[in-house]
Amino acid sequence: MSKRIGEIVLVAGLLAAGMMLASCDKGQPKDGAGKKKIVVGFSQIGAESDWRKANTESIKAEAAKRGIELKFADAQQKQENQIQALRSFIQMKVDVIAFSPVVETGWEPVLREIKKAGIPVILSDRAVDVSDDSLFKTFIGADFVEEGRRAGRWLVKKTGGKAKIAELQGTPGSAPAIDRKKGFEEILKDHPDMKIIKSQTGDFTRAKGKEVFESFLKSPEGKEINVLYAHNDDMALGAIQAIEEAGKKPGKDILIVSIDGVRGAFEAMVAGKLNCSVECNPLLGPQMFDLVEKIVAGQEIPKRVVVEEGVFDESQAKEALPTRKY
Ligand code: AHR
Repeated sequence: MSKRIGEIVLVAGLLAAGMMLASCDKGQPKDGAGKKKIVVGFSQIGAESDWRKANTESIKAEAAKRGIELKFADAQQKQENQIQALRSFIQMKVDVIAFSPVVETGWEPVLREIKKAGIPVILSDRAVDVSDDSLFKTFIGADFVEEGRRAGRWLVKKTGGKAKIAELQGTPGSAPAIDRKKGFEEILKDHPDMKIIKSQTGDFTRAKGKEVFESFLKSPEGKEINVLYAHNDDMALGAIQAIEEAGKKPGKDILIVSIDGVRGAFEAMVAGKLNCSVECNPLLGPQMFDLVEKIVAGQEIPKRVVVEEGVFDESQAKEALPTRKY
């Protein structure tokens, strides 16, 4: 090849490479300063509770604040929808995938696909049950077992260790339903006069909580129930309606302890209809996107990030209500 032809081939090659780069670049979102934007795919469970709505808000607001492009998918409480969303995030070649898994099991195959695509995964709010923990980078969320223990300890103190309890469980197979039951029963173990006499799922929703508690009250054991332990506030709020419709006084005839600490629970405590709410903080956006930015920058992050939470009862509700953020 003559020197002249060699030069032409080289220039053409450089031009083609430049065009390829330019066309790849077109797909990459940029911020105002022309810097490549971080793209995160987030698969949310749904909008089953006030807690979940606050969690979604926190994530969307924090992404917007940081100029992070968020691909948000609502799974309507269905695992198959979440798996589909995770696969679509692989296709989109997002920088990080985060999700709040509706149930604990059944994630290994899709997590392996994500790992193969080289995309880091953050578990947000709920954990998964997998044999290989290299399938996710980190898990940020509450300690649900401890929340169950906190509810149990509060109840022991309040009742002096004597109670006939109806339990409204969360979504079957979900981490908070499994762990909150476990933590609560751990405390009950040492108190033989505290018994769970009814237990069923209310799927973390207000409507189901009401429906199931109505059936508890109508059952042969209905008259004996003097405590409700609900795995979240929404189900407790639904049950309060059922108790009132049955002509009883929630918070008095039936003591109620639930989990989340949403505004509606504080209002019910101020009204004397709910006795205690164990806090579960949904405002995970800021901490989650700190992790995202560290992962993208190649920095080390902890495998587990636990969220700080408290316990509130009726005596604290009035003072705390105006400062509640969700
Ligand atoms: O995973 C957190 C739980 O999910 C919340 O306690 C509940 O309200 C929500 O739906």
